[in-house]
Amino acid sequence: MATVSSRPARSTFACSECGHESPKWLGRCPGCASWNTFAEVVAPQRSPAAGRRDGARTEPVELASMRDGDQPRLSSGLPEFDRVLGGGIVAASLVLVGGDPGIGKSTLLLQVAAGIANGRAVLYVSGEESAAQLKLRCERLGLSGEGLFVLPETNLEEAFRRADSLAPAVLVVDSIQTVYTEAAGQAPGSVAQLRQSAMELMRWGKTIGIPVFIIGHVTKDGDIAGPRLLEHIVDVVLYLEGERFSSYRLLRGVKNRFGSVDEIGVFEMTGEGMRAVENPSQVFIGERARDAVGSAIMATLEGSRPMLVEVQALTSPTVTPAPRRTANGLDVNRLVLVSAVLSRRLGLPLASQDIIASVVGGLRVREPASDLALALAIVSSQRDKPIAGDIIALGEIGLSGELRSVSQLDRRLAEAERLGFTRAIVPASNANGGPQREGINVMPAPTVRDAVRLALP
Ligand code: TYD
Ligand code: MG
Repeated sequence: MATVSSRPARSTFACSECGHESPKWLGRCPGCASWNTFAEVVAPQRSPAAGRRDGARTEPVELASMRDGDQPRLSSGLPEFDRVLGGGIVAASLVLVGGDPGIGKSTLLLQVAAGIANGRAVLYVSGEESAAQLKLRCERLGLSGEGLFVLPETNLEEAFRRADSLAPAVLVVDSIQTVYTEAAGQAPGSVAQLRQSAMELMRWGKTIGIPVFIIGHVTKDGDIAGPRLLEHIVDVVLYLEGERFSSYRLLRGVKNRFGSVDEIGVFEMTGEGMRAVENPSQVFIGERARDAVGSAIMATLEGSRPMLVEVQALTSPTVTPAPRRTANGLDVNRLVLVSAVLSRRLGLPLASQDIIASVVGGLRVREPASDLALALAIVSSQRDKPIAGDIIALGEIGLSGELRSVSQLDRRLAEAERLGFTRAIVPASNANGGPQREGINVMPAPTVRDAVRLALP
């Protein structure tokens, strides 16, 4: 008779894209519908780190007996970075910074590390670059490197040993895909390694009370490779985004246990690293030519922050059987909807026209409040007539051509006024109850047809 103690370690299978688990191997993931992404995950052996955890005891705490619910936050020295975190770094928090390879994650985190190292020690563990390479990068960024310790290491246990003796204020791990822990007996980059490494980092950070930053690379599908399954482990998830050929980068929170995920940080990648952009609106509409045909300005809200953006459209006679619709920085479905409404409600002959629409500066606008600016840009291009340079347009377009209200109109108008705009076309439903502004003439429009009449008389 077989004895229970000789049973082999139980293994399961997990999807490397979304982390979906299954007791048996599957060709197609039921979680995210990817093919051939299942890999075996062997249940981890008890690790030395797990043994250490057994040593530290935690006690239940009565909330009423605690003095202050607000935890003290550490500043990164980059106000733009602190803002996205919700006002600085929370003690013992685990933060995942994701983004495409080459987008600037290492650069940003090295700057953050150096900012914190001001008078403290910070440990930057890199599985990607040597100490000499990091020194070169530091010099390029104009950072002294004082208090900033780098450790080219891929073994997490070794990194913890070094960190334990250094007692840094912050630990940075670059990247989660290149490190491995002995607690998971598999190759770096595998699902089991990613998850176990993140768990070990969390355990280490929470036990000692030190914030940990993890860098994770995103795959072509837009998920952090594997680390999609880290999102629920970590406290904060930030993504660094940007277009390949634009120097602007957005740092966007998608999860934050200590603050809102609405805040974004705007940076520019320069020769000396990431520079915070103080006035994003100025940047995004700065290159607009006066009297440009096919261009309209709108104010988008990124969290609580209003930003003016230029929406451009180009119509040109189609040579394919079906006209093409291409959107850059905008939702292509909104473009299809807006052009269909313009065809039907305004009688514009768009069925024979290709339309290319884009948001200038590499920004992605996800809210339907940009519909009206898009519609006006299309009409402007179609008629070959420019929209006056002092007009901004806001509103979501409904299927019957009606303009639907946008949120926080006052904030958007204030930003437009600050940048010298004097006229705003807004949905009539918004303008009625909405507050009036001194420096900006608010022109209510019930439908897109009315808006076109106001913008292109
Ligand atoms: P990096 O931070 O290494 O990206 P990631 O860690 O996300 O993979 O940034 C790489 C790119 O940034 C590289 O193409 C060079 C460019 N770069 C600058 O433009 N300026 C700089 O000061 C630095 C350090 C890098
Ligand atoms: Mg890097």
